[in-house]
Amino acid sequence: MTVPRAEDTPAPAVPKELAEDITEDTVTDAVVESFAGAPDARLQELLGAFVRHLHAAVREVEPTMDEWETAIGFLTRTGQKCDDVRQEFVLLSDVLGISALVENINHRKVAGATEATVLGPFHMTESPVRDNGDCIDLVGGRTPCVVTGRVLTTDGTPIPGAQVDVWQADENGFYDVQVPDVQPAGNGRGLFTTDDEGRFWFTTVVPSYYPIPTDGPVGQLLEATKRHPNRPAHIHFIADAPGYTQVTTHIFVSGSPYLDSDAVFAVKRSLVRDFEPADDPAGAERYGVSNPYRHAQIDLVVQEAAG
Ligand code: BEZ
Ligand code: FE
Repeated sequence: MTVPRAEDTPAPAVPKELAEDITEDTVTDAVVESFAGAPDARLQELLGAFVRHLHAAVREVEPTMDEWETAIGFLTRTGQKCDDVRQEFVLLSDVLGISALVENINHRKVAGATEATVLGPFHMTESPVRDNGDCIDLVGGRTPCVVTGRVLTTDGTPIPGAQVDVWQADENGFYDVQVPDVQPAGNGRGLFTTDDEGRFWFTTVVPSYYPIPTDGPVGQLLEATKRHPNRPAHIHFIADAPGYTQVTTHIFVSGSPYLDSDAVFAVKRSLVRDFEPADDPAGAERYGVSNPYRHAQIDLVVQEAAG
Protein backbone atom coordinates (compact mmCIF):
# COMPACT_ATOMS: atom_id res chain seq x y z
CA MET A 1 0.00 0.00 0.00
CA THR A 2 1.32 3.48 -0.90
CA VAL A 3 0.94 5.99 1.88
CA PRO A 4 0.11 9.43 0.45
CA ARG A 5 2.54 12.13 1.60
CA ALA A 6 1.15 15.37 3.00
CA GLU A 7 2.45 17.28 -0.01
CA ASP A 8 0.45 14.98 -2.38
CA THR A 9 -2.90 16.25 -1.08
CA PRO A 10 -3.87 19.84 -1.66
CA ALA A 11 -4.07 21.62 1.69
CA PRO A 12 -7.37 23.36 2.42
CA ALA A 13 -7.36 27.12 2.55
CA VAL A 14 -6.09 28.27 5.97
CA PRO A 15 -8.81 30.19 7.76
CA LYS A 16 -7.75 33.55 9.13
CA GLU A 17 -9.20 32.74 12.52
CA LEU A 18 -9.87 29.38 14.13
CA ALA A 19 -13.50 28.27 14.00
CA GLU A 20 -15.12 27.85 17.40
CA ASP A 21 -13.91 25.08 19.70
CA ILE A 22 -15.73 21.79 19.49
CA THR A 23 -17.36 21.30 22.88
CA GLU A 24 -19.41 18.76 24.71
CA ASP A 25 -22.46 20.58 23.36
CA THR A 26 -21.42 20.81 19.73
CA VAL A 27 -19.47 17.60 19.05
CA THR A 28 -22.53 15.54 18.06
CA ASP A 29 -23.66 17.98 15.39
CA ALA A 30 -20.08 18.35 14.18
CA VAL A 31 -19.68 14.60 13.68
CA VAL A 32 -23.11 14.19 12.04
CA GLU A 33 -22.30 17.13 9.77
CA SER A 34 -18.95 15.55 8.82
CA PHE A 35 -20.88 12.88 6.92
CA ALA A 36 -22.82 15.45 4.86
CA GLY A 37 -20.74 14.78 1.76
CA ALA A 38 -21.25 11.00 1.77
CA PRO A 39 -22.40 10.00 -1.74
CA ASP A 40 -24.48 7.14 -0.29
CA ALA A 41 -27.52 8.74 1.38
CA ARG A 42 -28.41 5.60 3.33
CA LEU A 43 -24.87 5.31 4.73
CA GLN A 44 -25.11 8.95 5.79
CA GLU A 45 -28.46 8.28 7.50
CA LEU A 46 -27.16 5.16 9.30
CA LEU A 47 -23.97 6.84 10.53
CA GLY A 48 -25.83 9.96 11.64
CA ALA A 49 -28.33 7.92 13.65
CA PHE A 50 -25.60 5.77 15.24
CA VAL A 51 -23.58 8.81 16.24
CA ARG A 52 -26.57 10.68 17.70
CA HIS A 53 -27.72 7.64 19.72
CA LEU A 54 -24.23 6.63 20.88
CA HIS A 55 -23.48 10.19 21.98
CA ALA A 56 -26.83 10.30 23.82
CA ALA A 57 -25.91 7.09 25.67
CA VAL A 58 -22.49 8.52 26.60
CA ARG A 59 -24.14 11.72 27.89
CA GLU A 60 -26.62 9.66 29.91
CA VAL A 61 -24.07 7.45 31.70
CA GLU A 62 -21.00 9.73 31.66
CA PRO A 63 -18.47 6.86 31.64
CA THR A 64 -15.17 7.17 33.48
CA MET A 65 -12.00 6.71 31.41
CA ASP A 66 -11.58 3.26 33.01
CA GLU A 67 -15.11 2.27 32.01
CA TRP A 68 -14.49 3.48 28.46
CA GLU A 69 -11.29 1.41 28.24
CA THR A 70 -13.15 -1.62 29.63
CA ALA A 71 -15.79 -1.23 26.90
CA ILE A 72 -13.13 -0.97 24.18
CA GLY A 73 -11.35 -4.01 25.65
CA PHE A 74 -14.60 -5.97 25.64
CA LEU A 75 -15.28 -5.16 21.97
CA THR A 76 -11.67 -5.97 21.09
CA ARG A 77 -11.92 -9.39 22.74
CA THR A 78 -15.29 -9.96 21.05
CA GLY A 79 -13.64 -9.43 17.65
CA GLN A 80 -10.65 -11.58 18.58
CA LYS A 81 -12.97 -14.47 19.51
CA CYS A 82 -14.41 -14.56 15.95
CA ASP A 83 -13.18 -17.07 13.38
CA ASP A 84 -14.67 -19.20 10.58
CA VAL A 85 -16.86 -21.17 12.97
CA ARG A 86 -17.42 -18.68 15.79
CA GLN A 87 -19.15 -15.32 15.45
CA GLU A 88 -19.00 -13.63 18.84
CA PHE A 89 -20.41 -10.35 17.48
CA VAL A 90 -23.56 -12.15 16.28
CA LEU A 91 -23.81 -13.74 19.72
CA LEU A 92 -23.51 -10.28 21.29
CA SER A 93 -26.25 -9.01 18.98
CA ASP A 94 -28.34 -12.06 20.02
CA VAL A 95 -28.05 -11.56 23.80
CA LEU A 96 -28.72 -7.83 23.46
CA GLY A 97 -31.97 -8.63 21.59
CA ILE A 98 -30.73 -6.81 18.48
CA SER A 99 -30.93 -9.91 16.26
CA ALA A 100 -34.53 -10.49 17.38
CA LEU A 101 -35.39 -6.82 16.81
CA VAL A 102 -33.88 -6.74 13.30
CA GLU A 103 -35.66 -10.02 12.49
CA ASN A 104 -38.99 -8.67 13.78
CA ILE A 105 -38.65 -5.41 11.83
CA ASN A 106 -37.75 -7.19 8.61
CA HIS A 107 -40.41 -9.88 8.94
CA ARG A 108 -43.38 -8.07 10.43
CA LYS A 109 -46.24 -10.40 11.20
CA VAL A 110 -48.27 -11.12 8.06
CA ALA A 111 -51.76 -12.50 8.63
CA GLY A 112 -51.66 -16.26 8.25
CA ALA A 113 -47.92 -16.56 7.55
CA THR A 114 -45.55 -18.43 9.86
CA GLU A 115 -43.68 -16.06 12.16
CA ALA A 116 -39.94 -15.80 11.61
CA THR A 117 -37.32 -15.96 14.32
CA VAL A 118 -33.52 -15.78 14.60
CA LEU A 119 -31.20 -17.88 12.42
CA GLY A 120 -28.60 -18.45 15.14
CA PRO A 121 -24.96 -19.43 14.61
CA PHE A 122 -25.31 -23.17 14.05
CA HIS A 123 -26.58 -23.10 10.46
CA MET A 124 -22.96 -22.99 9.40
CA THR A 125 -22.71 -26.24 7.44
CA GLU A 126 -24.85 -27.39 4.55
CA SER A 127 -27.58 -29.76 5.61
CA PRO A 128 -27.36 -33.15 3.89
CA VAL A 129 -30.04 -33.75 1.26
CA ARG A 130 -32.48 -36.29 2.66
CA ASP A 131 -35.67 -38.06 1.57
CA ASN A 132 -38.96 -37.63 3.38
CA GLY A 133 -39.18 -40.20 6.13
CA ASP A 134 -35.39 -40.26 6.74
CA CYS A 135 -34.06 -40.20 10.28
CA ILE A 136 -31.81 -37.23 11.10
CA ASP A 137 -30.75 -38.75 14.43
CA LEU A 138 -27.61 -40.63 13.40
CA VAL A 139 -26.54 -41.60 16.91
CA GLY A 140 -29.65 -43.36 18.25
CA GLY A 141 -31.28 -41.18 20.86
CA ARG A 142 -33.58 -42.36 23.62
CA THR A 143 -37.07 -41.24 22.53
CA PRO A 144 -37.89 -41.26 18.84
CA CYS A 145 -39.83 -38.35 17.49
CA VAL A 146 -41.74 -37.92 14.24
CA VAL A 147 -41.98 -34.43 12.74
CA THR A 148 -44.55 -33.85 10.02
CA GLY A 149 -45.56 -30.69 8.24
CA ARG A 150 -46.53 -28.94 5.03
CA VAL A 151 -45.36 -25.87 3.20
CA LEU A 152 -48.43 -23.76 2.39
CA THR A 153 -49.37 -20.44 0.86
CA THR A 154 -51.26 -17.96 3.04
CA ASP A 155 -54.54 -19.16 1.46
CA GLY A 156 -53.73 -22.73 2.51
CA THR A 157 -52.62 -24.08 -0.88
CA PRO A 158 -49.87 -26.74 -0.51
CA ILE A 159 -46.57 -26.00 -2.29
CA PRO A 160 -44.95 -29.09 -3.85
CA GLY A 161 -41.17 -29.05 -4.43
CA ALA A 162 -40.44 -26.54 -1.64
CA GLN A 163 -37.18 -26.99 0.26
CA VAL A 164 -37.24 -27.40 4.01
CA ASP A 165 -33.88 -27.07 5.75
CA VAL A 166 -33.84 -28.48 9.29
CA TRP A 167 -31.22 -28.38 12.06
CA GLN A 168 -31.41 -29.14 15.76
CA ALA A 169 -29.46 -29.93 18.89
CA ASP A 170 -29.53 -33.48 20.25
CA GLU A 171 -31.02 -34.79 23.49
CA ASN A 172 -27.98 -33.46 25.37
CA GLY A 173 -28.30 -29.96 23.94
CA PHE A 174 -25.39 -30.06 21.45
CA TYR A 175 -25.23 -29.42 17.71
CA ASP A 176 -23.04 -31.76 15.63
CA VAL A 177 -20.47 -28.99 14.99
CA GLN A 178 -19.96 -28.47 18.73
CA VAL A 179 -19.01 -32.06 19.48
CA PRO A 180 -17.47 -33.53 16.30
CA ASP A 181 -15.96 -36.41 18.32
CA VAL A 182 -19.41 -37.48 19.53
CA GLN A 183 -21.79 -36.65 16.69
CA PRO A 184 -21.08 -37.34 13.00
CA ALA A 185 -21.28 -34.32 10.68
CA GLY A 186 -24.88 -33.88 9.53
CA ASN A 187 -26.40 -35.30 12.70
CA GLY A 188 -29.63 -33.44 13.45
CA ARG A 189 -29.68 -31.86 9.99
CA GLY A 190 -31.54 -32.47 6.75
CA LEU A 191 -32.62 -30.73 3.57
CA PHE A 192 -36.04 -32.06 2.57
CA THR A 193 -38.26 -31.42 -0.45
CA THR A 194 -42.03 -31.33 -0.12
CA ASP A 195 -44.04 -33.99 -1.98
CA ASP A 196 -46.94 -33.43 -4.43
CA GLU A 197 -49.18 -32.42 -1.52
CA GLY A 198 -46.67 -29.99 -0.01
CA ARG A 199 -45.77 -32.43 2.78
CA PHE A 200 -42.45 -33.18 4.47
CA TRP A 201 -41.72 -35.58 7.29
CA PHE A 202 -38.72 -37.01 9.11
CA THR A 203 -37.81 -38.77 12.31
CA THR A 204 -35.46 -37.52 14.98
CA VAL A 205 -35.17 -37.12 18.75
CA VAL A 206 -36.77 -34.43 20.88
CA PRO A 207 -34.04 -31.79 21.25
CA SER A 208 -32.97 -30.51 24.66
CA TYR A 209 -32.73 -26.90 25.81
CA TYR A 210 -29.10 -25.76 25.73
CA PRO A 211 -26.77 -22.92 26.71
CA ILE A 212 -25.42 -20.63 24.00
CA PRO A 213 -21.59 -20.62 23.93
CA THR A 214 -20.32 -18.97 27.13
CA ASP A 215 -16.56 -19.40 26.80
CA GLY A 216 -16.02 -15.89 25.38
CA PRO A 217 -16.71 -12.24 26.20
CA VAL A 218 -20.49 -12.71 25.74
CA GLY A 219 -20.42 -15.44 28.39
CA GLN A 220 -18.56 -13.04 30.69
CA LEU A 221 -21.22 -10.39 30.07
CA LEU A 222 -23.97 -12.87 31.00
CA GLU A 223 -22.05 -13.95 34.12
CA ALA A 224 -21.40 -10.34 35.18
CA THR A 225 -25.12 -9.58 34.92
CA LYS A 226 -26.25 -12.89 36.44
CA ARG A 227 -28.20 -13.78 33.31
CA HIS A 228 -28.57 -17.44 32.36
CA PRO A 229 -27.33 -18.49 28.89
CA ASN A 230 -30.06 -20.98 27.99
CA ARG A 231 -32.36 -21.33 25.01
CA PRO A 232 -35.56 -23.41 25.26
CA ALA A 233 -35.63 -26.65 23.26
CA HIS A 234 -36.33 -26.04 19.58
CA ILE A 235 -35.89 -27.26 16.01
CA HIS A 236 -34.79 -24.77 13.33
CA PHE A 237 -36.43 -24.57 9.88
CA ILE A 238 -35.90 -22.57 6.71
CA ALA A 239 -38.70 -23.01 4.15
CA ASP A 240 -37.86 -21.91 0.63
CA ALA A 241 -40.16 -21.98 -2.40
CA PRO A 242 -39.69 -20.11 -5.71
CA GLY A 243 -41.88 -16.99 -5.83
CA TYR A 244 -42.29 -16.87 -2.04
CA THR A 245 -40.35 -15.12 0.71
CA GLN A 246 -38.08 -17.55 2.52
CA VAL A 247 -39.05 -18.05 6.16
CA THR A 248 -36.46 -18.77 8.86
CA THR A 249 -38.10 -20.02 12.01
CA HIS A 250 -38.14 -22.58 14.85
CA ILE A 251 -40.63 -24.80 16.55
CA PHE A 252 -40.28 -24.73 20.32
CA VAL A 253 -41.02 -27.77 22.47
CA SER A 254 -43.97 -26.90 24.70
CA GLY A 255 -43.17 -27.32 28.38
CA SER A 256 -39.42 -26.79 27.81
CA PRO A 257 -37.53 -24.88 30.51
CA TYR A 258 -36.60 -21.33 29.49
CA LEU A 259 -39.58 -20.77 27.15
CA ASP A 260 -40.29 -17.64 29.17
CA SER A 261 -36.67 -16.44 29.42
CA ASP A 262 -34.89 -17.32 26.16
CA ALA A 263 -31.32 -15.92 26.33
CA VAL A 264 -31.75 -14.49 22.80
CA PHE A 265 -35.37 -13.23 23.07
CA ALA A 266 -36.56 -15.30 20.09
CA VAL A 267 -39.62 -17.19 21.42
CA LYS A 268 -42.98 -16.57 19.75
CA ARG A 269 -46.03 -18.25 21.19
CA SER A 270 -47.30 -19.15 17.70
CA LEU A 271 -44.22 -21.36 17.27
CA VAL A 272 -44.64 -23.48 20.42
CA ARG A 273 -45.75 -27.03 19.61
CA ASP A 274 -46.78 -30.01 21.68
CA PHE A 275 -44.47 -32.90 20.98
CA GLU A 276 -47.35 -35.28 21.67
CA PRO A 277 -46.59 -38.70 23.18
CA ALA A 278 -47.98 -41.36 20.81
CA ASP A 279 -48.61 -44.97 21.76
CA ASP A 280 -49.55 -46.27 18.34
CA PRO A 281 -47.79 -49.41 17.00
CA ALA A 282 -49.28 -48.92 13.49
CA GLY A 283 -48.10 -45.29 13.37
CA ALA A 284 -44.67 -46.32 14.66
CA GLU A 285 -44.41 -48.94 11.91
CA ARG A 286 -45.52 -46.45 9.26
CA TYR A 287 -42.82 -43.96 10.29
CA GLY A 288 -40.18 -46.61 11.02
CA VAL A 289 -39.71 -45.75 14.70
CA SER A 290 -40.09 -47.75 17.90
CA ASN A 291 -43.29 -47.43 19.91
CA PRO A 292 -44.03 -45.29 21.93
CA TYR A 293 -42.80 -42.13 20.20
CA ARG A 294 -43.45 -38.38 20.12
CA HIS A 295 -45.06 -36.46 17.29
CA ALA A 296 -44.76 -32.77 16.41
CA GLN A 297 -46.49 -30.99 13.55
CA ILE A 298 -45.62 -27.68 11.85
CA ASP A 299 -47.13 -26.11 8.77
CA LEU A 300 -44.74 -23.55 7.32
CA VAL A 301 -46.86 -20.83 5.71
CA VAL A 302 -44.91 -18.61 3.31
CA GLN A 303 -46.03 -15.34 1.79
CA GLU A 304 -45.76 -14.38 -1.87
CA ALA A 305 -42.56 -12.49 -2.66
CA ALA A 306 -43.10 -8.83 -3.33
CA GLY A 307 -42.79 -7.67 -6.97
C1 BEZ B 1 -29.55 -21.14 18.07
O1 BEZ B 1 -30.73 -21.33 18.25
O2 BEZ B 1 -28.95 -22.02 17.46
C2 BEZ B 1 -28.88 -19.93 18.64
C3 BEZ B 1 -29.42 -18.68 18.42
C4 BEZ B 1 -28.78 -17.55 18.93
C5 BEZ B 1 -27.61 -17.70 19.66
C6 BEZ B 1 -27.07 -18.96 19.90
C7 BEZ B 1 -27.72 -20.09 19.40
FE1 FE C 1 -30.66 -23.51 18.07
